[in-house]
Amino acid sequence: ESVLHTKNFGRHIVYMESTASTNEVAKELARKGAEEGSIVVAEEQRSGRGRLQRGFYSPFAKGIWFSLILRPDFFPMEASKSTLLAAVGVCRAVRSLGLPNAAIKWPNDIMVNGRKLVGILTELSASMEKIDYIIMGIGINTGMERADFPEAFREGATSFRAEGVHVSRKTLLAAVLSELEKEYAVAETEGFARVLDNWRNLSCTLGQSVRVVLGTNSYTGKAVDIDKDGCLLVDTGNEVNRVIAGDVSIRPA
Ligand code: BTN
Repeated sequence: ESVLHTKNFGRHIVYMESTASTNEVAKELARKGAEEGSIVVAEEQRSGRGRLQRGFYSPFAKGIWFSLILRPDFFPMEASKSTLLAAVGVCRAVRSLGLPNAAIKWPNDIMVNGRKLVGILTELSASMEKIDYIIMGIGINTGMERADFPEAFREGATSFRAEGVHVSRKTLLAAVLSELEKEYAVAETEGFARVLDNWRNLSCTLGQSVRVVLGTNSYTGKAVDIDKDGCLLVDTGNEVNRVIAGDVSIRPA
């Protein structure tokens, strides 16, 4: 019996017991012409990658670790916002499966009770004129427990199980693909302004005091909004800084 009700996302599924990183496999497939909507999913990643050169814990069968290949028509300039689109879709799916207070920490971590449940790493291949492909890499912790992965929890991770919620990985993957497909259609038909509004409504960052960390420098301010490009606007009291994802990390002040 099928649980997947998407039109296109997940139509081709490459399943792997173990791989270094599903993003790398997906990139290889995309270079060879894999269709939009194809996904690569692994039980385990031996060197899962995160944003800002960090690693990402991806232990065997303790979560869903997958990458989705997209070939959008929108302009390369719009591509950076697709990572916010991903966060919107994943957040909705997570909320619908028993964690109603899940929220997005800018730009794209999904947090539950102040802890990180989901990480998203979006990678792009494009010329000035045209996007070749986007790889949306998504990792969702389902079964990880503090006792088995103390380091991950020390770094602020959580999982469905640690939050007291049982979820089937199959059901979760189907729900995520379905919400991603919906939000992708929103971007294509209504434009990114609508996606950004949806992001605002799911965010736990806006209105908060944050510390912006730029290498060895940092400053604090209030996260007041995101702009039309998805950059975070941080009011320091003297000025409003525009923070670009990728260069910085933000923490509670
Ligand atoms: C982050 O939290 O900084 C982003 C983590 C992204 C993890 C996912 S798991 C599937 C895909 N493959 C990877 O190596 N990373 C992404």
